[in-house]
This record gives sequence, C-alpha cells and structure tokens, in this order.
Amino acid sequence: MPIIAANFKTNHTRSSTAKYVSLVNNYLKTNSTSDVYIFPTATSLDYFETVANLHIGAQNAYATQNGSFTGEIGTEQLDEFYIKTILIGHSERRHILGETQEMIAQKYQYFKALGYRIIYCVGEPLEIKESGLDATLQYMQTQFEGIDLSYENLVVAYEPVWAIGTGVTATNDDIVNVHQALKKQCSKPLLYGGSVKLGNVESICQLDGVDGVLIGTASWVAEDFIKIIENTKEL
Ligand code: PGA
Repeated sequence: MPIIAANFKTNHTRSSTAKYVSLVNNYLKTNSTSDVYIFPTATSLDYFETVANLHIGAQNAYATQNGSFTGEIGTEQLDEFYIKTILIGHSERRHILGETQEMIAQKYQYFKALGYRIIYCVGEPLEIKESGLDATLQYMQTQFEGIDLSYENLVVAYEPVWAIGTGVTATNDDIVNVHQALKKQCSKPLLYGGSVKLGNVESICQLDGVDGVLIGTASWVAEDFIKIIENTKEL
C-alpha cells in the first residue's frame, strides 16, 4: 500500500480545508490504506480529529518555539493543533523563497530533535537533468548535506523540479533510476512527486523503489484525491 500525500501549497481556505479533511477522513474510516498526509496552508491548520493513519502536516515552519521572526510560525503554533509532521526542503522553498541547504539542514535538525515526522524533498532542476543521471545524483548529494538519513521518522520525496506543476511527469525510467540509487543510500520510505495525477498514479506507485507519491495540483479536489487513494490502495 503506497503512502499518499497532498501538498496544498497556497490553495484552499480554512473552511474548504476543513471540508476536504473531513471527506478524506470519512473515506479512510471505512477503507484500509497506508499513511495519508495532507499539508494545508498555515492559516488553515487546526486540530482535526482523524483516523490514526491520516496525518495533517505543516508545509513549513521556522526552527523555533516562538520569538521574533515576522511572518513565520514556530512549534508553539503547531503544538496548539498537535501537528507533528512537516515538509522540509520543498523545491519551491529552495528556488522561490531562497532557502539554502544550510538553512534547510538547520531546520531539519531542529524538527528532528523534536521527533517530528519529516517529509524531506530533493530534486534536480532541468539543466542538471539534461546533464545526465550522474549529474542528477551528484546534485542530490548536495541536498543531503547536513541531513541525517537514518532518522527514524524520515520519509524522503524525490521531486524533479522540472516536473513540478508543469504537467511533465518524469518517465518511468527516470523515476526508477533515481529511486534505485537513492534506495542504496537510504532505507526510508521514498515518495515520487511531480505532476502525479489520477491517470499516472497507479503505474508510478508500482515502480521499483517507489513507496508512494507527493501530489500538488492533482490533490486539490478532495474527490480526486480520494479516488487516487482508492485506486492505489490494493497495490
Ligand atoms: P505537482 O506538485 O503535483 O503540482 O507537480 C508536486 C509538489 O510540489 O509536491
């Protein structure tokens, strides 16, 4: 059974998130699946009563309990809703928000020390992909600097930057090549992300070395996301 995760990015409101979580939770009450994750916006975080395998996580937080970090949230705000899951290293934070590997590693260490479930994202930009598999794997090594890959609560997500939100999915060969190499290095669950949708999720989840998927765009309609879980739960 693959792990299925929904990254809302900057979409949904408090009320639409609550409806979404409730629909997914109701589905999971009567269907046995692997872990399901939902990452709403920070303003839509709340305490949601859910089945044990549905986890609500933060897309981002600052490595602090509280303090003077204008615009950020810390663990005091996450604790209010019992949130213990976080996405770290997403390519939009690396490339749009300018998070460096040093900042990311510091964040990783902070949340690891607190026992958070961490979904840690890596992936290469197009120019690196065009230089071949070795270049891609080498590039990803720099994204593992300062990251403890033996951390017990770690899930890794391979998300090629050129495949995120573009409608261009990596080929099955691309995914298998990278996942097999990463599996040699890290025994943690390994998700694929990048234009995963209803039409390709089943075949991707069956690839060697793929333990699940992290989905942006195609996860934003609850019924579609539930269908994705439904169509993959027997795999
Ligand atoms: P996408 O996003 O499914 O819209 O490509 C994936 C992600 O950024 O996690």
